[in-house]
Amino acid sequence: MERTLSIIKPDGVARGLIGKVVERIESSDFRIVAMKMLHMTKAQAEGFYAVHKERPFFGSLMDFMTSGAVVVMILEAEDVIAGYRKLMGATNYKEAEEGTIRADFATDIEKNVVHGSDSSESAAFEIGYFFNSFEIVG
Ligand code: RTP
Ligand code: MG
Repeated sequence: MERTLSIIKPDGVARGLIGKVVERIESSDFRIVAMKMLHMTKAQAEGFYAVHKERPFFGSLMDFMTSGAVVVMILEAEDVIAGYRKLMGATNYKEAEEGTIRADFATDIEKNVVHGSDSSESAAFEIGYFFNSFEIVG
């Protein structure tokens, strides 16, 4: 069993897409073992996306990720890190495979509705960033 961190980004929450994203997660047999809604501060967003600090889009990404509430979840399943990335589709929704969350709902390379961890190392960091052990169901 593997775990990954999923975020429904501010555009997804503002546009009323929580239910649709959760439905796709559950239909994929990814088990939600933790879930909460929060509005990230700038410092929280900077820490979360620290790996992207030098990228040209970092400032804009920080404004976006702190622009509204997000829903943060831990998903559990076999190979869920790769499986959830596949369900999300490519970062750029124009390149995302048909039927993926980003192909169907994203409106912009930045406003792409969802986040998913990209490796077991980032999953471990990201899960610990948002949840303590008491907030994760067995
Ligand atoms: P994420 O981390 O959010 O799951 O997305 P990802 O792995 O598919 O993409 P990543 O390269 O990690 O980029 C993180 C987020 O930054 C925004 N972005 N904007 N303007 C741009 O060129 C650009 N590129 C990336 C997106 O919101 C992307 O998901
Ligand atoms: Mg990423």
